[in-house]
Amino acid sequence: MRRLRKEKLREIFAETEVRKKDLIVPVFIDENIKKPVEISSMPSYFRIPLDGVCDEISSCLDLGLKSFILFGIPSYKDEKGSSAYDREGVIQKALRLIKKECGDAVIVTDVCLCEYTSHGHCGIVKNGEILNDPTLELIAETALSHAEAGADIVAPSGMMDGMVKAIREKLDDHGFEDVPIMSYSAKYASNFYSPFREAADSGFAFGDRKSYQMDIHNSDEALREIELDIKEGADIVMVKPALAYLDIIRRAKDTFNIPLAAYNVSGEYSMVKAAEKEGWLDGKAIAYEILTSIKRAGADLIITYHAKELAEMLD
Ligand code: PBG
Repeated sequence: MRRLRKEKLREIFAETEVRKKDLIVPVFIDENIKKPVEISSMPSYFRIPLDGVCDEISSCLDLGLKSFILFGIPSYKDEKGSSAYDREGVIQKALRLIKKECGDAVIVTDVCLCEYTSHGHCGIVKNGEILNDPTLELIAETALSHAEAGADIVAPSGMMDGMVKAIREKLDDHGFEDVPIMSYSAKYASNFYSPFREAADSGFAFGDRKSYQMDIHNSDEALREIELDIKEGADIVMVKPALAYLDIIRRAKDTFNIPLAAYNVSGEYSMVKAAEKEGWLDGKAIAYEILTSIKRAGADLIITYHAKELAEMLD
């Protein structure tokens, strides 16, 4: 077996390759700031002001990174998450700017209410419960407002039942038949999201997300979630988080013939950064190994905070 592992040959026989075009860069756009602000639990990752978004995207395009997923931090929040579907909302404004100034970028938008609701949940709340069906219309309206402003792909992440169907119908009814849906299909109620909640200011006022996000103990259920989303019209399905859920990525890949994304989430990034800061691990080498594992497990696309720092290495 060692013959093919010799330096010169090894590369030729590498079965898996992480390419820049596989990566999607998360961008946090904050309507309330004038300068980039570093996210304390995510070293070297920043919230970007609205008027800095084109610089950010352009610098990534220069590095050869093509795809982005946008998260918004709005100037106001209310019970119904109105700023999520406000045509003058932060994401809608950012999309119009980006389309005008850096049209080559592929822009995915995260479609969810949690950054926009005063209680921080991903749906309408009544008597402490997160209501499913009344939320669907708001999610669909949010996706429509993103498509109108120029989103290339919309990515619902709220784990409401029927969200893909509601969005597909809404987009089709308004002439956006061509806008694909990337669904966060198997999204677990994970502790790995906590740095993101600081980043996106989307912590919740009460309870947890266990009534809508998946139970970490389950694997068969992930396949049911993905199957339903495909039936409802998803073009790309996602498993989230990635690193602790490589088994789910592999099962999804083996079961369904559809583009598969994985989200290498905030907590996965923060762990690497913390160990790197202590000098315990080589952060870049570890990040590269993690992304390679996620691809090896079967992901076609990876949303990752490591994209920029690895871009040069992937040349
Ligand atoms: C919004 C959303 C979350 C993430 C992506 N979209 C947070 C959550 O569900 O609480 C997490 C991403 C990350 O941790 O990097 N629903």
